[in-house]
Amino acid sequence: MGEILAYVQAEIERGAGRIAFVVADATRGGGAYAGEPEARSGVRHRPYRVWVELAGRLGWRLAELSGQTGGRLMVVLERLPAEEMPRLADPREKYGTRSSFARLDKAEEPTFVLDFVDAIERAAVPSRARVLVLGCNRGDEIALLQRHAPGLVASGSVVGVDHCVSAVAQARRRFPAGNHAFLCEDVAELDLLDIGRFDLVIAIDVLQSPQIDDRALLRHLVKERLTPQGSLVLAFPNCRYRDGELLPGARMKNFRQPELGLLFKSVAFYRRYLQQHRRRVFVTGTHEILVTAVPVRIN
Ligand SMILES: C[S@@+](CC[C@H](N)C(=O)[O-])C[C@H]1O[C@@H](n2cnc3c(N)ncnc32)[C@H](O)[C@@H]1O
Repeated sequence: MGEILAYVQAEIERGAGRIAFVVADATRGGGAYAGEPEARSGVRHRPYRVWVELAGRLGWRLAELSGQTGGRLMVVLERLPAEEMPRLADPREKYGTRSSFARLDKAEEPTFVLDFVDAIERAAVPSRARVLVLGCNRGDEIALLQRHAPGLVASGSVVGVDHCVSAVAQARRRFPAGNHAFLCEDVAELDLLDIGRFDLVIAIDVLQSPQIDDRALLRHLVKERLTPQGSLVLAFPNCRYRDGELLPGARMKNFRQPELGLLFKSVAFYRRYLQQHRRRVFVTGTHEILVTAVPVRIN
């Protein structure tokens, strides 16, 4: 791998737009670990995962994995186009229906769906529950609940809050039932809303926003918005998306590789705070880090 990495890095520094190299095809090496010689051919086995991870860490696209004759595999990596930062008349439309974010569908990310469904099952909310979704955007979390916990959405009621006008309008069209409400409001001013308490609060990729005082908001949620037996499901991005690709790891300016210090610090704070407020806390996830807090149940 050292040789492959050196070749790839030299190509990147040379300014290449595509990098191609040929390796052993993983279909022949089932059971072998990365780098182990394959039983039949004796060449070094490397699972497909290695090429997906390499592309992601470089911030490049894995453009091609194609079988060649003689049990070889061609790997082609492609440089991603420079990121465009559209100028917005209204910054609250950053995640609006015309943004590139609107092209993302978290329901297509298997690791997120597995972790989210697990978290909702852990929360074990009662029937006819009240659910608050912060930063609900067009309501993808509600669509996931509808699919994986249909009773919750059908018999309960959902309040979605987001400051993006176009996304909230889409959520209202998607979930027109009278038991759901979508408010176009700033989550930093949640204390001004007369919306009551909830059995479950969901906030996916919202609290880390630099415009939000996440600590103050968390305190408000626990003290003013949760029922005594209420649960929380929070998620924080440990990846970013670019030109259709998921690039793993929380990225920081001036770091070539992901730097997770800030993410770990925040998660440690949420975990400790929620434990101090009589919740069992689970931290799960891969590209999205989920913090699930459920009431401590005394048998
Ligand atoms: C990264 S998106 C996540 C959307 C959705 N939760 C998901 O995971 O697909 C962040 C969302 O939070 C909303 N948001 C960010 N800051 C907000 C604020 N201060 N008040 C209300 N909504 C906010 C954005 O408009 C956007 O819809």
